[in-house]
Amino acid sequence: MQILITGGAGYIGSHTCVELAAAGHDLVVLDNFVNSNPASLMRVEHITGRKITLITADLCHAADVSAVFAAHAIDAVIHFAGLKAVGESNDKPLLYYHNNITGTLNLLQAMDAANCRQLVFSSSATVYGVPQKLPLTEDHPLSATNPYGRSKLMIEEILRDLYQSDARWRLAILRYFNPVGAHESGLIGEDPLGPPNNLMPFVAQVAGGRRDKLSVWGKDYPTIDGTGVRDYIHVVDLAAGHVKALDKLSAHHQGKCFVVNLGTGTGYSVMQVIENFKRASNRDIPYQICPRRAGDVAEVVASPDFAREFLGWEAQRGLDEMCRDHWRWQANNPNGFAS
Ligand code: NAD
Ligand code: WQD
Repeated sequence: MQILITGGAGYIGSHTCVELAAAGHDLVVLDNFVNSNPASLMRVEHITGRKITLITADLCHAADVSAVFAAHAIDAVIHFAGLKAVGESNDKPLLYYHNNITGTLNLLQAMDAANCRQLVFSSSATVYGVPQKLPLTEDHPLSATNPYGRSKLMIEEILRDLYQSDARWRLAILRYFNPVGAHESGLIGEDPLGPPNNLMPFVAQVAGGRRDKLSVWGKDYPTIDGTGVRDYIHVVDLAAGHVKALDKLSAHHQGKCFVVNLGTGTGYSVMQVIENFKRASNRDIPYQICPRRAGDVAEVVASPDFAREFLGWEAQRGLDEMCRDHWRWQANNPNGFAS
């Protein structure tokens, strides 16, 4: 198939491009590089030996999005493009709603007009809000605690309404848990602009000497050692889940709308991540215990059962591989793609 990947230059998008190319698909990437670097796609081409068609455009410009479908026969879309920083979304809700929701509406309208009704959407475990029961199954009640999360929830609801209105649509909503790690080549990985918001890239930059120490946000949670527990998932496993979701959609001659968790089902605490990363990098990781971060919860862990039963997908890589591969990327590219 010819697949359009919005946000394909970003962290998860670039890794998914590698898996899609390996599965034999032709790739068209649309990105405005607001949070990524075109070098990532050159490296994907290097890894895969395949050419990617690149369209530099903003999803918020409807005419540019329609033009993509006029110029290319797109069979399916994987929609990663969006802004994702929780803290920034509290400060700039209009930016987040405009970028994430207007961008998605423009994409869906262009797809409909072009008779392309097959989409995989990047949702997030954030739509479960504060977990009421663990592990999180797909039928857990939904809520949002910040504008970023609310934009994901709104898009999920838009997609469900769309399917209700026209059952020709084939829609996969994938709820990611905590993506970490990097491609084992060490050529692509997460390259945050400014200080990382997320744990693993921050730990990696401390291990690499780019930052002095890690702040551990809270040691008084009811968890194994008092620090927050999350379901970290290797980005290459996550990428493979997209290929499986696409296969599942394509196998349906009629429309379909499904929601799947992409997690491992195993949680690790902040201290366990630090200890494992120390071993993987053979570096010290200085840290200090700080008060809890606003909006954080004690524990978030997926039930991976439905993904296994329905998609035939489950994560293959554990915390050792996540830390090892994240460290290889960090060590080889201390300043990310600018290195
Ligand atoms: P990323 O920032 O690395 O990638 C997003 C890409 O989208 C970037 O290349 C960015 O330049 C592009 N983009 C943003 N707005 C755009 C627009 N208006 N037009 C064109 N391109 C645009 O983020 P990521 O970690 O790869 O996340 C991909 C998707 O997965 C996002 O939708 C994110 O919300 C979702 N997600 C991420 C995580 C995570 O922890 N990384 C967890 C759950 C869900
Ligand atoms: C993990 C743990 C922190 C940084 C976020 C988004 C979520 C999803 C994934 C997009 C927590 C602790 C962190 C640090 C720390 N993204 N921590 N020091 O918060 O589970 O999820 O990314 O959809 O929506 O909210 O991930 O990596 O920020 O935090 O102690 O410097 O590490 O308190 O326990 P989180 P995270």
